[in-house]
Amino acid sequence: MEFSIKSTLPEKLKTDCIAVGIFETRKLSDAAESIDSASGGHISGILKRGDMEGRSGTSLLLHHVPGIAAERVLLVGLGKEAEFAEKAYIDAIHAALEAVRNTGAKDAAFYFTAIPVKDRNAQWSIHHAVLEVMDSLYHFDKMKSKPEKKRDALKKLSFFALDAGAELALKQGVAVAEGVNFAKDLGNLPGNVCTPSYLAGQALEIAKEFKLESRILEQKDMKALGMGSLLSVTRGSHEPPKLIVLEYRGAAKNKKPVVLVGKGITFDSGGISLKPGADMDEMKYDMCGAASVLGAIRAAAQMKLKLNIVAIVPSCENMPGGSATKPGDIVTSMSGQTIEVLNTDAEGRLILCDALTYAEKFDPETVVDVATLTGACVIALGHVASGLYSNDETLASELLEAGKQARDRAWQMPLWEDYQEQLKSNFADMANIGGRPAGSVTAACFLARFTKQFRWAHLDVAGTAHRSGKHKGSTGRPVPLLTRFLIERSSGA
Ligand code: BES
Ligand code: MN
Ligand code: ZN
Repeated sequence: MEFSIKSTLPEKLKTDCIAVGIFETRKLSDAAESIDSASGGHISGILKRGDMEGRSGTSLLLHHVPGIAAERVLLVGLGKEAEFAEKAYIDAIHAALEAVRNTGAKDAAFYFTAIPVKDRNAQWSIHHAVLEVMDSLYHFDKMKSKPEKKRDALKKLSFFALDAGAELALKQGVAVAEGVNFAKDLGNLPGNVCTPSYLAGQALEIAKEFKLESRILEQKDMKALGMGSLLSVTRGSHEPPKLIVLEYRGAAKNKKPVVLVGKGITFDSGGISLKPGADMDEMKYDMCGAASVLGAIRAAAQMKLKLNIVAIVPSCENMPGGSATKPGDIVTSMSGQTIEVLNTDAEGRLILCDALTYAEKFDPETVVDVATLTGACVIALGHVASGLYSNDETLASELLEAGKQARDRAWQMPLWEDYQEQLKSNFADMANIGGRPAGSVTAACFLARFTKQFRWAHLDVAGTAHRSGKHKGSTGRPVPLLTRFLIERSSGA
C-alpha cells in the first residue's frame, strides 16, 4: 500500500473514493459539510431520508454525487461527537477500509483523519491510521503452494491532515508497521523453517539493508564466554544455537545504548520436561520476543532515530534427546551463578540470563528484554496486556505510557524480594522454577538476579505476542510499544 498525506479541499480531490465522517445523530463533519454544499445538499438529503445515523462502525457508499471531483463518497459513522476518542476513531478506520476494499476503488482518501481524537494529537491519528490499515491488510501465505487469489484493487490510500508533523507521523507509521509485519512473519513461520540459523540470517538481512553492525556468536563462542545456562537449553537439539547481535548507531558514539534482548526459542517442546501434546504447535511462537526486538531495531533504523540501540537475541531449540539437560542438572551461568534446572520447560530464563549478562559488555543506558516467558502471565493478564517488570520506576512508567500511546498496553507487576524465596535451591545458587504461585513473577525475579548492573525492564508477552484458535497468528506485539518508547527516547535527546 502506498500512503500519503492530502490537504486538498474535499470537493476538489480527484480520487476513486473519498471517505468523510458523520457524527451521531446525522451531524456532518467539516469535510462532509464541504461536500454537502458543493453538491447542493446531496449528503444532507440522504441523511434526512434516514439512511445513515452516524453510528460508530457503520458506513454508507454513495455514487454519482454531483459537483465534486471524487468518483465515490463514503460516509463513515463516527458515533457521538462528544465521545469521539481512540476507539471510535480506530473503528472508523476499519469500517472505512472494509467498505472501500469492497469497491473497485484503486485509490482512496480518508478525510476523517483530521478530526481531533480526545486526548490524542494529529500525529497520533496519522501514525495509527497507517498501523491499523497495515494490520488489517496483513496475511501470511508464504507457506501456501499457491498464493490466495483474492486481489485488492486498492493500491493508494491518503489521509487528510493539515498538521505540520503529519508527514513524519506517516513515515514513522510505515516504518513501525513494517517492523510489525517483519515480526509477524517470523512468528508465523514454522519451526522447521524459522530455526536459530534462519533468525540469524534474517538479522543479517536487516543489517545489510539498514547498514547496522552485526555479529553472530556460535556455540564455540558461547562456550568461550561461559554461557553454560544458554548452552544447557540447546543440548537436546540438532540445530546449532546462535546469539545474534545487531547494533544501530543513530547518536554520538559515547552515548550509552538502549539494549533490547529477545527470547528466541524457535521451538519449545519443553525438553525432557516435555509439554503435553495439545496445541504444542504454538510453541513455534516462542521466538516472538526475538522477532519483536528485531522488528523494533529495524523500524528504529528506518526512522533514523537519534539513538544508539543494540539488539541481542539468544536463539536455540528446546528439545528432548539423549544429551538433553535433565531435571536436577546444575549449570553455571556466564555470571558465575549456578542454577539447578528443576524443569527443563522453564528454558526461556536460562537463555535470557546469559544474554543479559552479555549485555553488560555494551555499557547499556537501559536494557529491556522481551519474552514469551510464562503461561502464568497468560493466566494473570490474558491476551490484553503484556506483563511489565522493572528495577526502575521511571523506566516502568515510560514503558507503560509508551504502551498506552501505542495501543499495545502493558501492566506492571511486582518484583518484590519476598518472591525471591521461591527460587531457593538445596544444591545450587538458585532453582530455575519457583512453583505454581505467581509463576510470571518468579520468572521475572529469576532474571532480576542477572540485571543488577543496569536499569532493566522485562516484558512477558506470552499472552500478547500471538493469538490462538480461529485467528491463530502472530500479532507483532510489542513492536508498537517498543518503537514508541524508542521514538520518545530519541526525541527527548
Ligand atoms: N514458552 C513457555 C511459556 C508460554 C506458555 C508461552 C504458553 C506462550 C504460551 C515457557 O518456556 C514455559 O514453558 N514456561 C513454563 C514455566 C514453568 C515450567 C515454570 C510455563 O509457563 O508453564
Ligand atoms: Mn518452556
Ligand atoms: Zn519457552
